[in-house]
Amino acid sequence: MDASERRPYHSPRRVGPAFRTGTASDTVRPVPVHVISHPVAQELLTHLRDTRTPSPLFRQYAQRLSVLIATEAMRDLPTEAVVVDTPLGPANGVKVSASVIVVPVLRAGLGMLDAVLSVVPHARVGHIGLQRDETTAVASQYYAKFPAGLDASLVVLVDPMLATGGSAVASLQLLASRGAQRMRLLCIVAAPEGIQEVEAHFPDVEIYTPAIDSHLNAHKFIVPGLGDFGDRLYGTM
Ligand code: PRP
Ligand code: URA
Repeated sequence: MDASERRPYHSPRRVGPAFRTGTASDTVRPVPVHVISHPVAQELLTHLRDTRTPSPLFRQYAQRLSVLIATEAMRDLPTEAVVVDTPLGPANGVKVSASVIVVPVLRAGLGMLDAVLSVVPHARVGHIGLQRDETTAVASQYYAKFPAGLDASLVVLVDPMLATGGSAVASLQLLASRGAQRMRLLCIVAAPEGIQEVEAHFPDVEIYTPAIDSHLNAHKFIVPGLGDFGDRLYGTM
């Protein structure tokens, strides 16, 4: 069965309120945010925050952390039963049966892509190119290309920094306009402002992140955050 033959993805019913922990203000109402609190994830995030971490290591830590985030985000993927032969006889197993499309937001999202694909190798990949204006923090689109079947797939948007939420909402709007119905957002640091913005426009989009930070500064950077993810990833400081 290749990727295009996999069954359409249907979200399982969510039971009870979504959970969140972290440092965000209590004034932010509960939203579907899954905070990856695993100690290994939190240590990797600490390395990413550290200004002493050089780009080659930053890339490695980002990859390893993204595997943990993606693993959690794919926890409820549907499977189908299969039987394989071990050297000692038949064994029951499963095969992931959902169509998944991963969409990194260029350029920083590329730092998470290979890690996400290592979790769901059968996924297909779309791309969105967005650039935040350094003065206004408003994102403008310069590229978009998607595989067919957005409407019948779990669409996993990958963008490490959720700051104002402008980039995420613009990406989700574009994906929705092309037919996507079931979308998730994977990021590495989220600001309360960005979470609220996503929830205001897409209340059904679940967010997976290891951190909800304190706030945005006057330049719309996440505090404490980790700085400019794309610049630290590619050494363009
Ligand atoms: C960063 C990041 C997000 C965006 C988040 O991208 O990767 O896409 O900022 O900010 P927002 O929530 O306020 O929209 P940036 O525009 O710096 O481009 P880059 O990926 O090329 O570094
Ligand atoms: N983009 C980044 O890379 N970092 C931030 O803190 C905000 C947007």
